Amino acid sequence: MKLKATHKSIDTSQADQVLITHYKDQDKNDMIEQLGSEIQSQFADRIKNQDLTGKAGESVNLYASNGQIVTVIGMGKADKITATALYEATHKATQAAAKSRVETLANFMAPNGCGDVDAEQATKLITLASAHGEYRYEDTKSFKKGNKHKLKAIEVAVNDDQATAFEQAKAMASGVSAARHLGNNPPNICTPAYIADYASKFAAKNDSCEINVLNHKQMKKMGMGALMAVGQGSANKPKMVVLKYNGGNKDDAPIALVGKGITFDTGGISLKPGPNMDEMKYDMCGAATVIGGFVAAVELGLPINLLTFVPAVENMPDGKAYRPGDVITSYSGKTIEVLNTDAEGRMILCDTLTYAQEFKPSVILDFATLTGACVVALGHQASAVMTKTDGLYDDLKQAGLQAHDRVWELPLWDEYQKQIDTTFADMQNIGGFPAGTITAGCFLSRFTDGQKWAHVDIAGTAWNSKKEGATGRPVAMLVQYLINESQK
Ligand code: BES
Ligand code: MN
Ligand code: ZN
Repeated sequence: MKLKATHKSIDTSQADQVLITHYKDQDKNDMIEQLGSEIQSQFADRIKNQDLTGKAGESVNLYASNGQIVTVIGMGKADKITATALYEATHKATQAAAKSRVETLANFMAPNGCGDVDAEQATKLITLASAHGEYRYEDTKSFKKGNKHKLKAIEVAVNDDQATAFEQAKAMASGVSAARHLGNNPPNICTPAYIADYASKFAAKNDSCEINVLNHKQMKKMGMGALMAVGQGSANKPKMVVLKYNGGNKDDAPIALVGKGITFDTGGISLKPGPNMDEMKYDMCGAATVIGGFVAAVELGLPINLLTFVPAVENMPDGKAYRPGDVITSYSGKTIEVLNTDAEGRMILCDTLTYAQEFKPSVILDFATLTGACVVALGHQASAVMTKTDGLYDDLKQAGLQAHDRVWELPLWDEYQKQIDTTFADMQNIGGFPAGTITAGCFLSRFTDGQKWAHVDIAGTAWNSKKEGATGRPVAMLVQYLINESQK
């Protein structure tokens, strides 16, 4: 599918279907006024019959004699429209169009913004929601002939001032799509080797990129004991994927991204219960997020240096698997008592965070589907941010608001640290029931002393229902953050 901006007015649009809005209590509709008399009279009839009142959730099709469908979408009261409402209305209408026979769709819903949402944010939201609504996972389906969806192009009406916002959102959408692809592919396909291969192919296509993949022998030799412990029960050997993009000055310190890449999390010897275990194929969505962010940064040619670290590991029970009670020496030299092999994310991340610091980054952001407790705390609405670096939460919060991919802060107070102290090692890998998301953050904080760093738990945001699958969150927030940093 092609996603492009159009600066045309609606009356000259050649698209098979155009989307416009109508608000509650709106007297006249500017978009309708630009269209032909046949559309205008159908519109007037529908208003008269009260089929169309502008109520949120309404959707009415009008038909032009040239075959074009004009879809009028009710948005509720103009002054009450939120970013979420605009995103969801676009998503729903695009999804419906993608399921129909339409080949080209043009979105004229809010080129100048609406309600609370200004033109820049509206352009971004509509572009992202259009791509999101069009997406359909088909990698592992055997389609019957003619069963593929028909939508070939989506045009977003963009006012001349918002061309940059559109380009940014389009790149975000590429990153989101890469992340959804990686997230949705099954664990027998999306293995550590698959992730390494995917990243290698991307790097090979782009001159500004380099890649280095560490294999399990190298990591063992280097002493990445915590990462290797998690991987030792699996036949799919661990890989460390390091992507490098040089868009900034040679001596600018890079921004480092780290993404949890557990390609399947059975829990290991601390085996997870059977129901819904399949969903643990999404446990590499941190990896998918940073790869998606990397893809978008390269597409935009951002003037920054970027380093992306993906520890890709499978957590399996086996005769060789690590076990509760084991004491492991991490790459940093700190020792860890394993009390639960299902707290594996922090084990692979701690070694990766130590490794990332060897590259002297200006800041490290890590993304991980780290704790079930995060889903309890924030649900599917916000990713959790934990940081001790001044101003970093504010920057991430701001980026989340701009891209409508929001985050919320949880504290990393020292008082929580004692929950991971133990008699038998420098720390234990679980902190008990209270504040499970925070104690996971505390664990990681012990490997990032003196480094500007934030941890983002995306367990609730990276995927949704079984039906929707991977959401591609929080790629948009991450890319917006990188854009903002590149402008500092
Ligand atoms: N990948 C899971 C976290 C998870 C659970 C994400 C459910 C999304 C939905 C992680 O590896 C895990 O198993 N965490 C444990 C930690 C516990 C053993 C301290 C958890 O959350 O139960
Ligand atoms: Mn686990
Ligand atoms: Zn996990």
